[in-house]
Amino acid sequence: MTIDYKALVEKYGSPLYMYDFDYIENRYKTLKEAFAGKKSLINYAVKANSNLSVIAHLAKLGAGADCVSIGEVQRALDAGVNKYKIIFSGVGKRDDEIEEALEKDILMLNLESEAEMKRVEMVAKKLGKEARISIRVNPNIDPQTHPYISTGLHENKFGVEIDMAKRMYIYANKSEHLNPVGIHFHIGSQLTNLDPIRESAMIVADLVRSLKAIKIDIKFFDVGGGLGVVYDDETTIRETDYTAAIFESVKGLDLTIMCEPGRYMVANAGAFFTRVLYEKQNGERRFVIVDGAMNDLIRPSLYNAYHKIEALGVEGETTPADVVGPVCESGDFFGKNVPLPPLSHNDIIVVQSAGAYGFTMASNYNTRPKPAEVALQGGEDRLIRRRETYEDQVRLEREFLQ
Ligand code: LLP
Repeated sequence: MTIDYKALVEKYGSPLYMYDFDYIENRYKTLKEAFAGKKSLINYAVKANSNLSVIAHLAKLGAGADCVSIGEVQRALDAGVNKYKIIFSGVGKRDDEIEEALEKDILMLNLESEAEMKRVEMVAKKLGKEARISIRVNPNIDPQTHPYISTGLHENKFGVEIDMAKRMYIYANKSEHLNPVGIHFHIGSQLTNLDPIRESAMIVADLVRSLKAIKIDIKFFDVGGGLGVVYDDETTIRETDYTAAIFESVKGLDLTIMCEPGRYMVANAGAFFTRVLYEKQNGERRFVIVDGAMNDLIRPSLYNAYHKIEALGVEGETTPADVVGPVCESGDFFGKNVPLPPLSHNDIIVVQSAGAYGFTMASNYNTRPKPAEVALQGGEDRLIRRRETYEDQVRLEREFLQ
């Protein structure tokens, strides 16, 4: 089936995010299938793309949700995720967030420090509840990825060391208001090498065994997210290799295996469409100025991340160009030295692999309205978020204008 993207950009306007829901479904099913024969739960990492329709689509397929704020928990519930498939992670949860999570009775809170455990215990006590918890272990393994998205080394702020985790489990097990049901690790994002995951799983599974020996029975083994995707020419981890490594680590243990993929599910389901405004030449350098900008998709500016860029349906000899937006920052670019044919006003530029950490990291910098989002499913297209207006942006300020 060929999709007329040009017509869709005309229909919905630019800049625009489009997500292929059939692709998302495929990804979910492929990963779930790789867990076949074992109890598993795929907790989609909502932070990657938290549009309600995206979450709802995955929820219908059976996915749970990994959330890092009470707002994300609310989104997951709103989108129809079963409350017993929702986990709440993150290094810094406020008391009111903890309270709300306990009241909503979600599967578990994932703890990242001893101090946080004590807060959760206190809040649970106040509510007369028992909090189901898991502890994020920092296995001190180098995930071999970009330092900004690496999280499994002691030098990172995430999780607790093995010894500390063990002490926390012993404490939680004795507490009337804590119920340690899970264990968790997440060593980084965009992982393309299985070894660090395998090593981490081994270390954490050993801790599960030593806890079992002292009658602390862990039920959920959460291996985090991080599965890498193809942006350029990366070789990614095969789903069945991934699950085989995990199965190997938990041999002999009766556990539900959980994972928290974000990027894997949605990155390559999405593309960002933007229209050419002008071309200009500054000395040797060719610039293509488009109507999308860093506020819409910040990954290139923030991480120097590579996204494949193409001109839709434009032929001609290519020369290198910097694709830049209208924001007043030199860092406002989508790609540098991108081979592009000669372009004219309104030609469409596609920034690929933009389904993860695209819209969710968008801002209103320069009072730019956030783009619209469109779902493509079974040959149909539908709006899943309308383009923001100026009024949407000033609504919370207008009443205070003196
Ligand atoms: N679980 C935890 C505890 C996480 O911290 C993350 C991502 C995930 C799951 C999902 O990871 P994924 O499967 O998507 O790799 N903004 C960055 C990525 C930050 C990832 C943060 N944590 C980017 O645009 O590359």
